Amino acid sequence: MKAIVQDKYGSPDVLELREIDKPVVKDDEVLVRVHAASVHPDVWHVVRGWPYALRLMGAGLLKPKNSVPGTDVAGHVEAVGKDVTLFQPGDEVFGETSRQWQWHNGGAYAEYVSVPEDTLALKPAGITFEQAAAVPTSGFIALSGLRHQGQVQPGQKVLINGAGGGVGALAVQLAKAYGADVTGVDSTRKLDMVRSIGADQVIDYMQEDFTQSGKRYDLILDVPGNHSFSALRRALTPKGTYVLIGHDRFGDSGRRWIGGIGQFLGQLVLSPFVSQRMAPRDSKETKDRLGFLKELIEAGKITPVIDRTYPLSEVPEAIRYLEEGHARGKVVITV
Ligand SMILES: NC(=O)c1ccc[n+]([C@@H]2O[C@H](COP(=O)([O-])OP(=O)(O)OC[C@H]3O[C@@H](n4cnc5c(N)ncnc54)[C@H](OP(=O)(O)O)[C@@H]3O)[C@@H](O)[C@H]2O)c1
Repeated sequence: MKAIVQDKYGSPDVLELREIDKPVVKDDEVLVRVHAASVHPDVWHVVRGWPYALRLMGAGLLKPKNSVPGTDVAGHVEAVGKDVTLFQPGDEVFGETSRQWQWHNGGAYAEYVSVPEDTLALKPAGITFEQAAAVPTSGFIALSGLRHQGQVQPGQKVLINGAGGGVGALAVQLAKAYGADVTGVDSTRKLDMVRSIGADQVIDYMQEDFTQSGKRYDLILDVPGNHSFSALRRALTPKGTYVLIGHDRFGDSGRRWIGGIGQFLGQLVLSPFVSQRMAPRDSKETKDRLGFLKELIEAGKITPVIDRTYPLSEVPEAIRYLEEGHARGKVVITV
């Protein structure tokens, strides 16, 4: 089969389109014929091998343990292992390619990938494979941040910082689906899109600092994490909740060893001393996340936003485009 292969860590130049063997399907796995796979910043992290902490966390010390990148996938079931009960050949599915977190190569940038059955769901009706592949990792981060960590409630004033990116564009729609009044913050060129997906208000971070406006929010979901905690507390109601997603802006922080992990530690230290909830980083919530997102998509409450698609052979270009930071919503690979 054709696949994008990475023999060493480095810039997207290390990625090559090659012929390799089809994956072997384990008993509890499903062989997916990939139609689309998406790109997100964690793919960039693993291709680069930055921060180095990810190498110690299972991605591979000196070179990637798994050579084919990509973790979010949509396609149809080609074959199933003997213990698989949820799917059969021909089913259209979407999901992540592994149960682990996404700081490792997941094998999605290939014609076929073998995936544990419990990380997949039937593809939502009424959307394309490209749209379906745009949802899993970003959708889980948005859902965990709002539903689990943020405990979002109808009528709350919710601010999404970084609303025009992969996570943000889904978070805006999710918060609206929960009945919140949503303010989206991002750069000028992304604001029309942020409005079009339902944000009640938008703020151009290039013109205005939301922490200086005097307005207060019940919940802030913060992708870039570019404000001090004291500034953020000014923008929160006295019992408001702050959820940090953390965006290293493709290595801009220069912290090669731990990336943005230090910010989470700072938040932990501060949280016992403030009235607001600094919701700790927590991705434990796994309860039927894909099924829940599928329902919202089928009900028309979430529409995945795709900025550009690239063919499999152009994965390096797709990652370079993501790295420029201009993508509105998601970048998707078609296979
Ligand atoms: N914590 C977690 O659980 C977890 C798990 C996996 C991934 N992540 C991380 O989540 C992050 C977000 O991913 P993503 O796919 O949403 O990235 P993305 O598509 O690059 O989105 C980031 C958005 O933030 C905007 N932004 C940059 N600086 C800003 C500022 N000062 N104020 C407001 N907005 C600003 C960017 O806009 P411009 O570029 O136009 O400025 C962009 O629209 C990634 O870094 C990823 O590694 C977190």
